Amino acid sequence: MRLQHNVSLKPYNTFGIDVSAELFTEVNQINDLAAITESPQHKHILGGGSNLLLTQPVNGLVIHNQLKGITIEKEDDESVWLNVQSGELWHDLVLHAVNNGWGGIENLALIPGTVGASPIQNIGAYGVEAKETIDSVTFWYWKEKTFLTYSNRECAFGYRDSIFKHQLKDKVFITSVVYKLSKKPEYNTSYGALKEELANMGVFELSAKAIAYAVMNIRNSKLPDPKEIGNAGSFFKNPTITRKQYEMLLAKYESIPMYPVSNELIKIPAAWLIERCGWKGFRKGDLGVHAKQALVLVNYGNAKGKDLWKLSDDIVTTVKAEFNIVLEREVQVW
Ligand code: FAD
Ligand code: EPU
Repeated sequence: MRLQHNVSLKPYNTFGIDVSAELFTEVNQINDLAAITESPQHKHILGGGSNLLLTQPVNGLVIHNQLKGITIEKEDDESVWLNVQSGELWHDLVLHAVNNGWGGIENLALIPGTVGASPIQNIGAYGVEAKETIDSVTFWYWKEKTFLTYSNRECAFGYRDSIFKHQLKDKVFITSVVYKLSKKPEYNTSYGALKEELANMGVFELSAKAIAYAVMNIRNSKLPDPKEIGNAGSFFKNPTITRKQYEMLLAKYESIPMYPVSNELIKIPAAWLIERCGWKGFRKGDLGVHAKQALVLVNYGNAKGKDLWKLSDDIVTTVKAEFNIVLEREVQVW
């Protein structure tokens, strides 16, 4: 295990926040984990740093995941089970799948970050969530010094949620994920913007590849590229409210968008709430709210994590005052 001291994390987080890690190491092979376990420092696992807000220098040991490899675990006429090491880039996996004609994750093209983070918040986009293809998740359990494999059901997936954000938070290092992909996919084009983009592209015969490229076009048109403007995607989750609450809001705001979750529950786009509070396109120094997507907070240069946190607090306060809805942050805060 090669330990480095006082390493700047600026290149390792998509917000581009410049704070240092007291200690930093890379994991290139699974055997490294046993040695790291013995280190007494507090351990922070870093994938692509695309769902992180760094608000202060990081005390302890930052472990940068570089576990690589994709293998076919098994296959039959209908499906292929891919065993993917957690340090693989998620989008590379999507390209690998669509280039082989395997369906299931094409709607999740261009989501930044690593495979190992995909189960943590059950990444989702354009009508699909990772939980629909995750077969199992294998992790190193620091305390027990052992590997465990959880089935899809044991991961307790929900909207941007899983057991890894609750009972197993900070307790495990996810080492690999098995995805069950389909050789005879049924495509999901339920998301309006996706249907429109496929039509614009002149796609008449659906394929996993065509859907992935349509999703990439949509994402490129509204989400800022972290290489140009620092950001971590959606800063907040979309809130779920009761139908009764929704009906009260509808009486006041007749254009409020909504997505039914169940008979009783309704999801409201947080971007709409934030935009209605006047934040869209806000900029103060290097801090801002993206002009094309109000759910994305941005760093135009040298913003500090704690100032982005303060901005997010101001947004929570105004949305609560206007709509009586409390926004919950999606990003992980260190
Ligand atoms: P990191 O940011 O490095 O880590 C996130 C958390 O997971 C941290 O707490 C970290 O400690 C923990 N962690 C990471 N790897 C492991 C591991 N191997 N074992 C245990 N814990 C680990 N998300 C979506 O769901 N849908 C989207 O459409 C989407 N779009 C985005 C667009 C942009 C432009 C950006 C910047 C982000 C977007 N995101 C989206 C958020 C982000 O890409 C995902 O949450 C992604 O899964 C984070 O992966 P990461 O490797 O960068 O995780
Ligand atoms: N909207 C606004 N103002 C805006 C942007 C959007 O009012 O500035 C409203 C519109 O009504 C629009 C609706 O919000 O129809 C939904 O917008 P969009 O399709 O852009 O999706 P989102 O709800 O803002 C979610 C995910 C994204 C994911 C997209 C596509 C969350 C927290 N975010 O965003 O995930 O890519 O849907 O499926 O669920 C992420 O998690 O980091 C992320 C980017």
